Amino acid sequence: MENRICIIDDEEVVLDSCTLILEGSGYPIVTTTDGTRGLQLVQESQPDLVFVDLKMPGISGFEVLERIRAMDPNIVTIVITGFATVGSAVDAMKQGAYDFLPKPFTPDEFRLIVQRGFEKRRLVLEAIALRHEKELLREQFAAIISHEVRSPLAAVQQSLMALQMELEDRLDEDQKKRLQRLQVRIDDLLRLIHTWLRVMSVDESKLRETFRRISVATVVSKAVESVQPQAMRKDIEITTSVEPLSCAVTGDEGTLVETLVNLLVNAVKYSHTGSQVQVRAKEQPDNLVLSVADTGIGIPKEELPYIFEDFYAGKTGQMVEKSSGLGLAIARRIVQAHGGTITVDSEPGRGSTFTICLPALE
Ligand SMILES: Nc1ncnc2c1ncn2[C@@H]1O[C@H](COP(=O)(O)OP(=O)(O)OP(=O)(O)O)[C@@H](O)[C@H]1O
Ligand SMILES: [Mg+2]
Repeated sequence: MENRICIIDDEEVVLDSCTLILEGSGYPIVTTTDGTRGLQLVQESQPDLVFVDLKMPGISGFEVLERIRAMDPNIVTIVITGFATVGSAVDAMKQGAYDFLPKPFTPDEFRLIVQRGFEKRRLVLEAIALRHEKELLREQFAAIISHEVRSPLAAVQQSLMALQMELEDRLDEDQKKRLQRLQVRIDDLLRLIHTWLRVMSVDESKLRETFRRISVATVVSKAVESVQPQAMRKDIEITTSVEPLSCAVTGDEGTLVETLVNLLVNAVKYSHTGSQVQVRAKEQPDNLVLSVADTGIGIPKEELPYIFEDFYAGKTGQMVEKSSGLGLAIARRIVQAHGGTITVDSEPGRGSTFTICLPALE
């Protein structure tokens, strides 16, 4: 692919010398002395690299930079600065410019920065391609699991059930038990596959399409309700406190309930019989904060960095019951899709508190 350059600088002489320096390099180059015209050129010629003079009459270099970024954030921009304006170059870089070129510059300095700019652009494009590829792989993997594993397994489960009924009178107790165990194993496998598919199918951009105003109280009560049976079995009381909010929260109710359920299931699973689990919803400036606190076994410090990763089950997790290590991974994906964060505070032997921060809207 050809590397294209656009240079926007109000000094004609700068444009000329840049063009001259790159003559023979074969890079297509477009130039203009005017910021507004420059934006047009960027739109039309789709350059890989844009040089922008920060100090121009009319539309400012900063505004040009900002508009280019809005057009295509992957275009690499470099600012050209006068002698005494290094400070504004730094400002420009804070806003996303890749580098700066102080005036006056030598041909070698210019060539070098052009090379670096193209190299940066190559890396940016490569990263985009990789992200895309990862997305494709994820979809393919989900399709394979679904068609090649889940469907046949569901068919086996079906036949097994039929067989069990047909043989009802002919099997002895031991044989019946063995058939039942088979069925339980298949149920477990299917549940695991369902969870895997769930992890892979939390598509952040798709989820966003279903966002609407949610009631935090509803999310909390639905989640608590669905975990209640498990909690009762361990004689664990779940208490809730939901502060009234002054602002609205948008999101996807279903997946937020799922997130809270995952946290609550953990809290119950990793707590002692007869203890308490507390769910809280409160408001902080610009945020809705949801927390689930237990007084259970806690999480060792060395495991904390990993618990949100796919398939990570801690030592305690493996000890308790069957664990796929996906509950928190799903929770984190969902929270991230909502533009929020999920964190944990835990002390072995004393308990854990998981906290979700969601951006709230006025
Ligand atoms: N409230 C908690 N108290 C103590 N340990 C916890 C708690 N929540 C999570 N953990 C630890 O973090 C690990 C990962 O949790 P996660 O929910 O992702 O998976 P899991 O509970 O093992 O399996 P599942 O996929 O069934 O949820 C657990 O295995 C456990 O070690
Ligand atoms: Mg879990």
